[in-house]
Amino acid sequence: MRGPSQNRRPPTGFPRPLAFGLLATLALGACGPKPQFTGDTCPDDVPPVCPDPAPTYAADVAPLLGRLCGACHTAGGVSFNHPFDTYDEVQRQHTGIEFQLNNCIMPPADQRQPTSDERQTIFAWIVCGSMNN
Ligand code: HEC
Repeated sequence: MRGPSQNRRPPTGFPRPLAFGLLATLALGACGPKPQFTGDTCPDDVPPVCPDPAPTYAADVAPLLGRLCGACHTAGGVSFNHPFDTYDEVQRQHTGIEFQLNNCIMPPADQRQPTSDERQTIFAWIVCGSMNN
């Protein structure tokens, strides 16, 4: 004969696979491997020191950001909150730009991705002090 206690099931909370999936998602989001795009791993390639010659904002970085980011990061674009239309706007956001690029979050995966040289140009300009040069 079964007593009432044997019919009681222990509290389970989330079903185990679901709980594991949630934990894995949280862990990846917090400190897991960097997101990947188009099958490539995301390189961690910010130069440690300012290269010589240093890229300039006017000749190198502004046109590049215009091509890679400008369609969205402009007044009236989908990311109008983070415009890159002027030097001041870009300078103010240089930390975020470095972070988004270095972690391959921006540009979004379905957009044209920067080449290694293009990444180096933007990173180097930031490492060199993101000057208005
Ligand atoms: C196809 C559109 C698109 C392109 C291209 C694009 N972005 Fe974005 N970006 C977005 C959207 C959408 C957001 C999120 C909305 C917002 O916060 O304005 C965003 C947000 C950001 C942010 C702010 C993130 C934050 O939360 O603080 C940075 C920095 C950024 N993008 C950098 C870049 C850089 C650098 C490039 C080019 C190399 C780029 N993006 C290209 C659409 C784009």
